[in-house]
Amino acid sequence: MLSNFNVITLFPEIFQKWINVGVLSHGIKEKLFEFSSTNLRDYGIGSYKQVDDAPYGGGPGMVLMVEPLDYAIKESKKDINIFLSPSGQQLNEDLIQDLHGYESANIICGRYEGFDQRIIEMHSDYEIAIGQTVVSGGEVPAMFLIEALVRKIPGILGNSESLTNESFTNNKSDFPVYTRPEIYENLNVPEVLLSGDHRRIEEWKKNNLKDI
Ligand SMILES: C[S@@+](CC[C@H](N)C(=O)[O-])C[C@H]1O[C@@H](n2cnc3c(N)ncnc32)[C@H](O)[C@@H]1O
Repeated sequence: MLSNFNVITLFPEIFQKWINVGVLSHGIKEKLFEFSSTNLRDYGIGSYKQVDDAPYGGGPGMVLMVEPLDYAIKESKKDINIFLSPSGQQLNEDLIQDLHGYESANIICGRYEGFDQRIIEMHSDYEIAIGQTVVSGGEVPAMFLIEALVRKIPGILGNSESLTNESFTNNKSDFPVYTRPEIYENLNVPEVLLSGDHRRIEEWKKNNLKDI
């Protein structure tokens, strides 16, 4: 299973709070997966530690240079290199299954106008997009990807049944869920869920999985 992640990023501090909360923190303490980060700036060029430059051919913004990325990737040897890019293949459950065929991955976060294309040609095993829209950097997509992968590692979730009916399993959404109070502003919890009749409850849950 893919359980060893290294993110290559200009902003490793973004990950510090996130990785120390909830199931991720539990997973690391229990040694169910490993997480590290590489600060791309450490591989920058010259005394200014330059990592980006203007695009050849003109145009707005800056481009992440090939050399710092090349050094960072070569030093952090992993089974696969995943580049985050809005023009990559869309993340879905099939892709999550494919990725779990490996053990370790570098997850490379872009910024500005993205990567010099040559780094993709040199090192990319996967280019992955999270949604059909653009955010300012690969850090949020990296967190999304890692959480989606880590949830599948046995022992990570308190109750492994959480995965059984989870949305996107068998192309269905999860059923709606409710908790106390039974009535809130004239909105009732479905009567069947309060009935204690397990057969009817299971039937209701099955009938309330939506196709997606
Ligand atoms: C501002 S974006 C670059 C956008 C690029 N000019 C384009 O239009 O495709 C900067 C970085 O954010 C990350 N990023 C932005 N949106 C993303 C998405 N939907 N999925 C994955 N990564 C994304 C990528 O790493 C990208 O290199």
